[in-house]
Formats: sequence, C-alpha cells, structure tokens
Amino acid sequence: MAESADLPPAHASLLRVRRAASSDLDDLVALEQRSFNSDRLSRAQYRRHLDSDSALVLVASANHRHFLGNAVLFFRKGSGSARLYSLATQPEARGQGVGAALLEAAAAAAHRRGSHALRLEVRTDNAAAISLYERHGFRRIGRYAQYYQDGTDAWRYEKALG
Ligand SMILES: CC(C)(COP(=O)(O)OP(=O)(O)OC[C@H]1O[C@@H](n2cnc3c(N)ncnc32)[C@H](O)[C@@H]1OP(=O)(O)O)[C@@H](O)C(=O)NCCC(=O)NCCS
Repeated sequence: MAESADLPPAHASLLRVRRAASSDLDDLVALEQRSFNSDRLSRAQYRRHLDSDSALVLVASANHRHFLGNAVLFFRKGSGSARLYSLATQPEARGQGVGAALLEAAAAAAHRRGSHALRLEVRTDNAAAISLYERHGFRRIGRYAQYYQDGTDAWRYEKALG
C-alpha cells in the first residue's frame, strides 16, 4: 500500500523546507507528473536546475522522510526580481499548509539573495493557487493571453520582499 502523505496535527509542526539534492530527482519528477498536465519540467531540466546558481529548488518534507512538495525559483543577473517558476504539493498532502510553507521559504530565500520582489505566473483557472498567492501578499500585475502550452491564459503576480 502506498504510504500516505497526510500530515497528522502532531507532525505538522515537523514540516521543514530544505534545498533539494540530486537524491530528490525521482520524487521531483514524479510530483511534476502528478501535478501538471502541460508545461512540465523534465528530469534533465530538474537535474540542471539542481546544479545551477541561477535556480533554487526547495523541498518540503516532514519527519525527514515524506517528500511533500517542491518549489522552483529562478534568478536572473541584473534583475531585482526573482521568479517562482513552480510550486506543487503531493495531492494527498494538499490543504495542510505545505504550499504556504514553500511559498514563505521561497520568498525568504529570494530576499536573502537580494531580490526586492518575487514574481510568478499562474493559470487563470487555478483557483487554489490564486487564493494561496493572494493570501500571502501577492498582487495581480498583468495577464498573458495563451501563455500555457494548452492555450490557457496566465495572471502575473508580484510580491514586494523585505
Ligand atoms: C496550489 C498548491 C501548490 C497549494 O498547495 P497546498 O499545500 O494545498 O497549499 P496550502 O495547504 O498551504 O493552502 C491551500 C489553500 O488553498 C485553498 N484551496 C484549496 N483548493 C481550493 C480551491 N479549489 N479554490 C480555492 N481555494 C482552494 C485551501 O482552502 C487553502 O486555503 P486555507 O489555508 O485558507 O484553508 C497545490 O494545490 C498544488 O500542488 N496544485 C497543483 C500544482 C499547481 O497548480 N501549482 C501552482 C502552479 S502556479
């Protein structure tokens, strides 16, 4: 039987966010498959991002064993804004604060690296993600028509850091 990723209340406090390692590759790719129907990051792209100075991959886990979710941040030389490229929680662990913890950790990491803002794009039909971002201080700054491979539009959001 598959191990449940549910977080009983006693374990929720053990939730931690750390930098991803190459030993996380299988989990990262599997979660990508489960979470997105298009615009997925490939295994080769994850491997490259793990080794890149211009990317930061974060993993949320509990009890040092559950892989609960991940976030991918990109940094660009000469840009004061960091980009949250991806955020995903294991389906069984959603609604328990994992996404919020990853979002806060991503904002803190970007701030530590000197970014003054964190930007992201989100599908206009992704109600769960949009409400998470808005509750965490992101404001809508633009719309991109047919941004995703399947033709869906994106909202662009930004949060000032610091
Ligand atoms: C978006 C996502 C990362 C959120 O992760 P999570 O771990 O469930 O996040 P949290 O538990 O911190 O918060 C979820 C919030 O969304 C709310 N929510 C869940 N489903 C929702 C829906 N259909 N509509 C509106 N809000 C919803 C929950 O009520 C919760 O809010 P609350 O804390 O006020 O109760 C997760 O749903 C996911 O992985 N989705 C698939 C991948 C994805 O779309 N990523 C975003 C790409 S931009």
